[in-house]
Parts: sequence; structure tokens; C-alpha cells
Amino acid sequence: MLPQTLKVTGRSALPLLRWADVMRAPPSQQVKTLEHMPGPSSAGFLWDLFFRRGLTRLHQMQLEGRSKYGPVWKARFGPILTVHVAEPDLIEQVLRQEGPQPMRSDLSSWKDYRRLRGEGFGLLTAEGEEWQSVRRLLGKHMLRPKAVEAYDLTLNSVVTDLVEKLRLRQRENASGLVSDVSAEFYRFGLEGISSVLFESRIGCLDPVVPVETERFIQSINSMFVMTLLTMAMPQWLHRLLPKPWETFCRCWDDMFRFAKGHIDQRLEEERQKMSRGERLEGRYLTYYLSQAGVPLKSVYSNVTELLLAGVDTISSTLSWSLYELSRHQGVQKALRDEVLSVMKDRSVPNAGDVAAMPLMKAVIKEILRLYPVIPANARVIPDKDIKVGGYLIPRNTLITLCHYATSRDPKHFRDPDSFVPQRWLSRSEGNHPFASVPFGVGKRSCIGRRIAELELYLALSRILMHFDVEPAKENDTVRPMTRTLLVPERPINLRFVER
Ligand code: HEM
Repeated sequence: MLPQTLKVTGRSALPLLRWADVMRAPPSQQVKTLEHMPGPSSAGFLWDLFFRRGLTRLHQMQLEGRSKYGPVWKARFGPILTVHVAEPDLIEQVLRQEGPQPMRSDLSSWKDYRRLRGEGFGLLTAEGEEWQSVRRLLGKHMLRPKAVEAYDLTLNSVVTDLVEKLRLRQRENASGLVSDVSAEFYRFGLEGISSVLFESRIGCLDPVVPVETERFIQSINSMFVMTLLTMAMPQWLHRLLPKPWETFCRCWDDMFRFAKGHIDQRLEEERQKMSRGERLEGRYLTYYLSQAGVPLKSVYSNVTELLLAGVDTISSTLSWSLYELSRHQGVQKALRDEVLSVMKDRSVPNAGDVAAMPLMKAVIKEILRLYPVIPANARVIPDKDIKVGGYLIPRNTLITLCHYATSRDPKHFRDPDSFVPQRWLSRSEGNHPFASVPFGVGKRSCIGRRIAELELYLALSRILMHFDVEPAKENDTVRPMTRTLLVPERPINLRFVER
């Protein structure tokens, strides 16, 4: 167990020692079972979910749950019993006990859809050997810093189009107002991940956006809404109210169709090149997958899931970044000064430039602390019972890791609801290493992290070089809501003033 633990860590040794103490405790002190665990009644929890807008407030319910029941509690989410864990030490205990092929959730409706339609599983949904072999392959191209830096040219051409699009939008009215910035950033996110997957552009930022592109983005949105609803509904209710499940399936049908269309087109181009005797020299993820002999069905599902993973995550993080920077003009100025001092007289930053921007990194860390795109992650440990916070949790229990609650906890972050990126630049705030882990930790953590960070840094630096960003109205507060992911509750409107 210990070598495994050390391999996963690479972080402070202190929590590790605490974890070791727990595991060494005599058995008499360990045996509290699920029976002893506090939590709301099933009826009470369902009432909160369906009649107190709980499905859109799941992040808030983490805070409420922790203050009512403490750092560990159980709740029944529809047919599923889940143990909530809302303390960094305890999240760490869970993650350190996962095996070599960690599992996020065994009960996902996403998996049910794939089984029903005979589709393959991608990295988000696959388990065991199937997951590990693709993870190993894609990890070479998505996790190694040098491999990721090589995408900066491709991503920069997408950023150029984004800046142009923002310019067009802000010129539409005298005050430079761009309403609902997230809508532009959805298209930017999709174009960005597509360029990495296909090494070609698909026109999301063109003046007229292709219909199937808009449908794909729309399908992602509805699918996320329906994910929570279908999981919260007991099976018998599906028969009585079939609409959510039908809508959920239709959204996935659209998403798979979109991805397959682009993959088929790209692979056909390669076949034609080959028949003309030209050399194949792809530097894009679909190419790596298909060349490595991954079955086409699995290429389809992996690309569909990567496309999906690259849209809302980027859009939401970029929207919140500009929202907070517009409300904190001092930070915005300091960040722009940092960008300009690195760039000197050049106009397009590259991967090397953004690596030399500490405040930029701190801003994104702080945004993901305040607005973690995935506010709660999950784990199922299938092969053994584990001990967490003194409780024995039986194998196959769904464990919800309450990242929103820990990253807004005043015990771990001073003034936790305020945007203070500087906290990440000073060592004085010794944060617990598991208090804010927006990309997850360990073997199953976000494989797109490096690409996402590069994309966000390149976009943010260029936007700030071209525009001063201001709020549309003074004190125009936008709160987050849960839609499986954490997204703005209503449109974020900002003024972009050309510099
Ligand atoms: C701000 C941006 C992003 C955030 C905060 C984020 C966060 C996360 C988190 C929390 C997980 C689950 C980790 C775990 O279970 O331990 C995850 C998984 C994943 N993410 Fe991201 N993500 C982001 C962007 C992206 C992008 C751009 C891509 C695609 C290029 C991507 C692809 C994936 C995939 C495929 C997985 C599943 C990995 C696996 O199970 O092996 N993510 N992400």
C-alpha cells in the first residue's frame, strides 16, 4: 500500500503521515458503520432536490450538509446511496485507497446509454483494462509538457479568431457590451478542442456557425441537465415520466453523430493522401488513436467524450475569469502588466511565454477554487471496504468528494468567498494540498489539464492585450449553479473596451 501512496503523492508529507495514523489505529476505534453515519432522511433529501431547486444547488447543499452533519454524511440520491466527504484530509484518505484503475461512478446513466445503443466507452466512462490502455496512449500526447506545448500554434489560431469575434461583437453597440460571453466561449472551447483532435478548423467562430455545431453545444447543455435528473429519478419513475431519459438519449445521439462525422471526414482525407502516395504526418489526437490500432468504435467514443470535456470546462472557467477580473480592476491591470512585460514588443504569446506568468497561473487557480467546474467528483472502490474518517465504507459504495465545500471553507482559505489570486503567490497561506483540487488527483485525474491550462492562458493573455474588460453594470452579481458542472446561473454580460 505504501509505495502506491508515495507514487500518487508528490505533495506535502504531512497529510500522508496523518493518513498513516488513521490506518494504524486499533480496530476497536475504527468500527463505525454506515448505520452510525448522520444524514438527511430519504424523503427530506428528495424534497430538497425536487422542491427546493436542489438539483441546481447541489454545490450549496454541500455547504449545508457539512454544517448540519459534519465532514462525512450519507444521503440517498434517488435510488443511489452516496457517502459525502467534505474535508480535505478525508478526501485524501479516499483517494489514497483507490486501486491502480480507479473508478469514478458505477451507476452512471452515461454508461447505460452506451450499453443501450451499442456505443463504445471513452476515457470518461471506460473502466479497468479498457480505460488504462487508452489512458496510457493519450497520456503520451496530453500529459507530457513538451507534447502539449506543441499545440500552442494550433490553439493560437483559434484564439486569434476569438479575439476577432469579440471585436465584432463589441462593435455592435456603442458601449462595447458583449452579452452572454459564455456563448462565445462555448464555441471557442469546441473549436479549441477540435483543433487538437482533428488538426483542422470546424468553423465554430465563423460569422455563421454551422447548424450541427450549435446543435452539438445545445445537446451538451441539455445532456448535463438530464444527467442529474435521470440519476435522481428512481427506475419506476422513468416509466411514468419517460421524457428526461428520452431527451438524454437524443442529446447523446446528436453528440456521437457530430463526432463520427468529423472523424470519418478526417480519416477519409488521410486515406486519400495515402492513395496519392503522400506521407502521413498527423499531429492530432484522432490520428494517434487510429494509428495505434484502437478500434474505430472506441475512437468514436473517445473523441466524443474529449469534445464534450473540452467545451463547458473552458467556457465556464474563461467566463468566470473575465467576470472576476472585470470586478477587480487592480488585478486585471496587474495581470495585463505581467503579460506585457513578458511579451515586450511581440503580439502573440506562446507556451514558453505563459510559463513565465505566475499571476496568470494564480488567477486560474483562484477561479477554479471559487468556481470548480466539477463541484463534486465521485469514487467507487469496487474491491475492498475502506476506512474514512473513522467509518467503514463497504466496497462499491458511491463516495461523493465535495470539492466545492472544501475550496470555500474558511478553515482552509482566508476570506474564502473573495477573489484573491495573490493567495497562491505567497507561501504564508499553507493550504491543505487536497483543499482545492479542481482537476482531481492521481491516476484518474483530468487528462486534459495541461491542454486546458494552455488554452486558458493563451486566451486570457491575448484578450487582456486587446481589451479592457468592465462589468456591464455596477454590482451585477452572478452566482454559480449546478448543471452536473458548475456554470453561471444567468448570462454574464461584459463591456470590452478596445485598447
Ligand atoms: C478548466 C478545465 C477543466 C477542468 C477543471 C477539468 C476537471 C476534470 C476533473 C475534476 C476530472 C475528474 C478527475 C478525477 O476523477 O479524478 C476530469 C476528467 C477528465 N477530463 Fe477534465 N477538466 C478540464 C478540462 C478538460 C479538457 C479541455 C479536456 C479535453 C481535452 C478534459 C478531458 C478530461 C477527460 C477525458 C477526463 C477523464 C479522465 C479519465 O477518467 O482518465 N478536461 N476533468
